[in-house]
Amino acid sequence: MRTQVGIIGAGPAGLLLSRLLALQGIDSVVLENRSRAYVEARIRAGILEQHTVDTLTEAGVGDRLRREGLEHHGIYLQYPGTRHKLDFPALCGRTVWVYGQTEVTKDLITTQLAGGPPLLFEVSDVIPEDVDTDSPRIRFTDADGNAQVLECDAIAGTDGFHGVSRPVVQQAGGRVWERTYPYAWLGILADVAPSTDELIYAWHPDGFALHSMRSPSVSRLYLQVSPGEQIEDWSDDRIWDNLATRFALDGWELCTGTVTDKSVLPMRSFVSAPMRRGRLFLAGDAAHIVPPTGAKGLNLAVADVTLLAAALVRLLREQRSDLVDSYSDRALARVWRCTHFSWFMTSMLHTSGDAFDAELQLSQLRRVCSSEAAARELAENYTGLPLDV
Ligand code: FAD
Ligand code: DHB
Repeated sequence: MRTQVGIIGAGPAGLLLSRLLALQGIDSVVLENRSRAYVEARIRAGILEQHTVDTLTEAGVGDRLRREGLEHHGIYLQYPGTRHKLDFPALCGRTVWVYGQTEVTKDLITTQLAGGPPLLFEVSDVIPEDVDTDSPRIRFTDADGNAQVLECDAIAGTDGFHGVSRPVVQQAGGRVWERTYPYAWLGILADVAPSTDELIYAWHPDGFALHSMRSPSVSRLYLQVSPGEQIEDWSDDRIWDNLATRFALDGWELCTGTVTDKSVLPMRSFVSAPMRRGRLFLAGDAAHIVPPTGAKGLNLAVADVTLLAAALVRLLREQRSDLVDSYSDRALARVWRCTHFSWFMTSMLHTSGDAFDAELQLSQLRRVCSSEAAARELAENYTGLPLDV
């Protein structure tokens, strides 16, 4: 088999990259080790920045998003006695959209399977080879158990945090930064209409809580818990009680409903540099992880592949290497901005049990809720800084 760009991993990064390349006349093949059903059901992110929505729309996969997604004009920041709305259009002229990663993935897969580039599920033993040459290849075993070789001009490692691509880049040298936060999130999906018009990020002495949503009839809620917490110890009643306590505000009530999914998510930051070795390019979670506070993970994956697609088009159509040569540095500049913002949101909102920390956090929250300059800084980062392709 031969293609121009071999893409490892059919998460949002790999699928969108394939689509962006196809629109520019560049061939690709996407190799995914899980099944289609598994990939489409994986519940993860839910907030799309303005540039993500624009990119998906320009890529022709934004119709359902525009129909079924919910455009949001701000967030509430809450601390005891106060729930303050940050008005994003007034602060920075941008909005965000609620539309689940599951739905983004389904839209991309449907488009790809309807005449787009090949997308192979349930492959195994994927190995990128000869990435320091101009003709790298990917060895893999297809779903029927046959050994295959995919000859390429370039390889995109969009295979997430546990993929095979990052170790190949790091073997040639490089650096990794890591921070494990001493918190975790317990997340639930519930069949109940959201009790709020905008997302609520709530500081509380018992710990952070977040009220998000997926649709007018489905809510997504999170509680800060200890990293070692076992999901079996959290009955639905215990979860709803804790949520009600942490979101409590006079005159407001939290509606409860049937919990359809619950899990505990670790919180860490991770950055691997460079994001390139020869003709192998990393994008998305394969190169970096952010803690979820601030909803940057999926958006950063989209930003990476937007840069990478333009760089690969320039390389493969015009034989010019300027954009691939600067790809890693340009992508990492945005990665570190988002890593800082995720750290800022995480640090401002999660309680550590330390009384001094708590006063600093409350002071920061009061500042963001009273100073237009401080609010604008948060709003610009939250809605996503413009992407300089
Ligand atoms: P992934 O979505 O991880 O896709 C990588 C793909 O590669 C997967 O389909 C995987 O099966 C495949 N793969 C892996 N190894 C191989 C291999 N060897 N061969 C072939 N294929 C391979 N972000 C937010 O902004 N908000 C959130 O609330 C949020 N919640 C999250 C919850 C969880 C549990 C997790 C794990 C992440 C969450 N994120 C969240 C982060 C966000 O989902 C990711 O940043 C996003 O999925 C990154 O997309 P990606 O395509 O880079 O990686
Ligand atoms: C969601 C997740 C986040 O990390 C966040 O900051 C906002 C919303 C969500 O899953 O809906």
